[in-house]
Amino acid sequence: MSRLASLLSQGLEPFPDCVFDLDVLLNAPVVDLRKVARALRADARFSRRVLSLSNAILNRSGESAQSVTDALVLLGPCLFHTVVLVCAATDFGERAFRDWNAESLWSRGFRIAVTSERIAELSEYPVRGMGYLAGLLHDVGHLPFRIVAREQEAAFRELAEIQWQDNMDLEREIFGLDHCQVGRWMAKSWGLSPSLTDAVCHHHEPNAAPNDRQLAEIVCAAEFYCSVSAAQPATQSLWRLQTASTSPAPRENFAHA
Ligand SMILES: [Fe+2]
Ligand SMILES: [Fe+2]
Repeated sequence: MSRLASLLSQGLEPFPDCVFDLDVLLNAPVVDLRKVARALRADARFSRRVLSLSNAILNRSGESAQSVTDALVLLGPCLFHTVVLVCAATDFGERAFRDWNAESLWSRGFRIAVTSERIAELSEYPVRGMGYLAGLLHDVGHLPFRIVAREQEAAFRELAEIQWQDNMDLEREIFGLDHCQVGRWMAKSWGLSPSLTDAVCHHHEPNAAPNDRQLAEIVCAAEFYCSVSAAQPATQSLWRLQTASTSPAPRENFAHA
């Protein structure tokens, strides 16, 4: 699809600089609110996106944040950290679609991230937070498809009805590529580590992962678990467990560049 080709040919911007500063600040044993606020003030546009996604999440429980420091206090450092990563991963394409993509990545990725982290712990994967990050980002390759699909739906209404996500045959038929191929290109553009790149590219076929088969298997297992348990409502205790256990991997595990 030529629109997808033109979107991909624009390339991806590197993550905003403040994301790496925030990664360090939010992984500290004691989070310094003023330093976090200062880091986000350096990029007002990105800061607005972080506040917007924070409020989309907080609104589900009837809360709202007036500022990023409010959001950090209400969400807690781990979830706020996840919000920052989700905003960074969706910071491309038309502005109108970025927040929309961020809410989508959050909704789908968060549950798989928490499950991946738990499986990483149970399977004694050496960096538990890496399981979380891999689960969160594994389907980033969907995001350009979602932008193209949203744009095309006005002309091709039936596209909105097709359940193409995570159906790689259908993705190739509609878009000419599947989300793992697009994910590989995104991982390369961002300089993700070989382990994370394997999770993004090979979570549907972990045996083909050249660098870190275990991490790809963890995400594959988490996705399977989440798909079979999707019908079960999340309990309050599960939510507490999730919020208490989220721990995105620190910067040195994130990018290898
Ligand atoms: Fe997936
Ligand atoms: Fe997938």
